[in-house]
Amino acid sequence: MTHTRWSATKKPVTAIESDLAVYFAFHRKDTPPICDPAVQNRVEHAFALKDFTGKNEDQLLYYPVPETGRIKDKSKRILVLGLDPADVQKDISGFLETLRKRGGDIARVCEKTRAGALAVCMPQIPDIPMEGAAQALTEGIFLGDYRFGKYKQTSRKETDFSGIDAVTFSSDKKTASVRKGVEKGRIAAAAACTARDMANEPGNGWTPESFAEYARSLADTHGLSCTCLDKKEMEALGMGGILGVNQGSATPPCLVILAYDPGKQADTLLLVGKGLTFDTGGISIKPAAGMEEMKYDMCGGAAVLAAMSAVAVEKPNLRVVAMVPATDNMPGGSALRPEDIIRHVNQVTSEVVNTDAEGRLILADALAHGIQTFEPDCVVDIATLTGAVIIGLGHHHTGMVASSDALAQRLEAAGKEAGEPVWRLPLTEDYVKQIESKVADIKNTGGKPAGTITAAAYLSKFVGDTPWVHLDIAGTAWDFTEKSYIPKGPSGTGVRTFIHLTRSWKKWKSA
Ligand code: BES
Ligand code: MN
Ligand code: ZN
Repeated sequence: MTHTRWSATKKPVTAIESDLAVYFAFHRKDTPPICDPAVQNRVEHAFALKDFTGKNEDQLLYYPVPETGRIKDKSKRILVLGLDPADVQKDISGFLETLRKRGGDIARVCEKTRAGALAVCMPQIPDIPMEGAAQALTEGIFLGDYRFGKYKQTSRKETDFSGIDAVTFSSDKKTASVRKGVEKGRIAAAAACTARDMANEPGNGWTPESFAEYARSLADTHGLSCTCLDKKEMEALGMGGILGVNQGSATPPCLVILAYDPGKQADTLLLVGKGLTFDTGGISIKPAAGMEEMKYDMCGGAAVLAAMSAVAVEKPNLRVVAMVPATDNMPGGSALRPEDIIRHVNQVTSEVVNTDAEGRLILADALAHGIQTFEPDCVVDIATLTGAVIIGLGHHHTGMVASSDALAQRLEAAGKEAGEPVWRLPLTEDYVKQIESKVADIKNTGGKPAGTITAAAYLSKFVGDTPWVHLDIAGTAWDFTEKSYIPKGPSGTGVRTFIHLTRSWKKWKSA
């Protein structure tokens, strides 16, 4: 977590005092796994008993005591984790995901044993650069150690485990690369945990103004530029989508715009995140059972602003503009009614068939305004947009719809690197027909069939020719595939995908 101290040393793990020392043992066919001499005997012993073969899920936890003659151990506990190097050849990013999961496993053992100080023997894996390995392990430990205790008095009890205090990576080779990987992993994981914190806040704890405050604080600390449009300014611009969704609420809306500019000739990437701080459905109200989950309807907004915290410190050669249209969706006396017609900022009119299809209404204004203002080379939006994506892809892939194959490929690659896989759905004219309206330019629902795609079809009316990718994270923003480094609750998905995207950005025009 954020208070954890991270370091890398050439010192062997046996020379480091810790609550938990961690080693990796490499699986081999029919012979004992191979690992550091400090633990090899134990591992061979466990292998003979058929308790430990070094497969990816295998763990060995033991307690060195002076009586066994192993007085040279300075750690209170020893954890040996299996690692199957056969996976490397198959797929490198898949193997890094395995390492991330092992990092999460380490965090789980720390929680169980209340181990605060960690010493980790860096595994040396052929074909895997030390930097990438250190990055993946750091992300896994950091993300796995996440907890949200802000509102719980009991979590302040002294007896409670308050998280990992210190992690020392030991490696006799390439210590500088390890350090670099740790730093990259730390930045990315911290950003994802920031998004989780925002998402964990209830509707009365995280409001549109909270997004504005966070963006301003990032801007102040790192010299980014920040503008937050208030209700009056949105009225002047004619943002009928955001204003319409907000009109049943007692809490004012906000359109947050946060920009990083490298100051030289560079591409511009626009990121737009749905910041719906609570979605009751409005007059088309949602059933009570499960409505509480709709505090997470701001995870897209959280993802783009949290990603900016990494962009701000890493300073890529790329202009990045993050926008968050923020409001709640409430069924107040002045709320939008089904069949009301609204006018978006680009003059497109929309028949609001269902007030619960509000995400597309607020994204539409932000996309059109952002594209007009910043003339980006590419635009990506991210939103908990449709229940339909959960039916289609479950909780294991983010849904993607794209107008550009090249941009879709970039997002797919970045998602793979981050362990946040995306799956593309088609968008053809037939789907766009589903949102044709008899009374306005378009309508905000396309019926039950292909709900995720017709939501994207709606957005497509606001991006023009700008290469565009839409990510629907309704299935992955929370209840994401259970992994040791993703606890129950919000996952922070999208944040690390965006960080990988900006880190590996290649000039768009030559693409
Ligand atoms: N925020 C919801 C989408 C959602 C649903 C996210 C379930 C996570 C879990 C969105 O605003 C919504 O209500 N969408 C409707 C659209 C429909 C009325 C066309 C939906 O998916 O049911
Ligand atoms: Mn809704
Ligand atoms: Zn919603």
